[in-house]
Amino acid sequence: MNVVQNRPLVIGHRGAAGEAPENTLASFALAVKQGADGVELDVHLSADGELIVCHDPTVNRTTDGAGVIADQTVEQLRRLDAGRWFDEKYAGEHVPTLEEVFRLIPPEVMINVEIKCPYSARLQMRLFELLKLYDRLEGTVVSSFNHKILHSLQAAEPALKVGLLYDANLVDHRRMAELSGMNVYSLHPYHLLIDPEDAADATAHGLQVYPFTVNDEGQMHRAVKAGMSGIITDYPARLRSLLERLT
Ligand code: G3P
Ligand code: MG
Repeated sequence: MNVVQNRPLVIGHRGAAGEAPENTLASFALAVKQGADGVELDVHLSADGELIVCHDPTVNRTTDGAGVIADQTVEQLRRLDAGRWFDEKYAGEHVPTLEEVFRLIPPEVMINVEIKCPYSARLQMRLFELLKLYDRLEGTVVSSFNHKILHSLQAAEPALKVGLLYDANLVDHRRMAELSGMNVYSLHPYHLLIDPEDAADATAHGLQVYPFTVNDEGQMHRAVKAGMSGIITDYPARLRSLLERLT
């Protein structure tokens, strides 16, 4: 039976973080190879104002180095190995810059940039510089749990697509977007905290709904049936395969 009315986008979380070291070029390349429609990544600002792709504020967990990203330069961060902790075969992977990801990912693949660092003029300047240089404004969604950052960024560039990340049991998801004072492109709820009715209401009002992070096949099935516009997963190949079986 075809339970997929509109096929949801497959969005690779930190690339294909279930099968490759998260937020590395290898992980993004794998997600694209597995047929992801988009990739999600996390960014911080380095000491010299470059956008660095890494989830945590420090490099301790995902590299062979240590310390806070904001205290280190790109050159210092480049020396770190970001692959070996995951598997020996990924030794040599480095911590990428957002610019490297923009260069790697084909233009038709959506990029979801999640801002993890505080707002600053440098963050804004470098983000827009890159979005313009690589002609990515249309194909990028900028999300954050910190909605004020998104507000500041969209005030500077009204065409910026912003996505509200949240991990809350809301009474009315759509109203949150309407009350935010922004032109919201997408909702990014924790996947167990949004019902099919909430998703339907949001999509009927023009919002995209991209729940995170859906890794279990049963939960993927639930999200597909619920009519989510996209599904953020560590396992893009698993979701692609499920979608092929359902259509
Ligand atoms: O953007 C979705 C998801 O990545 C949010 O949580 O902690 O994995 O960045 P986290
Ligand atoms: Mg993230």
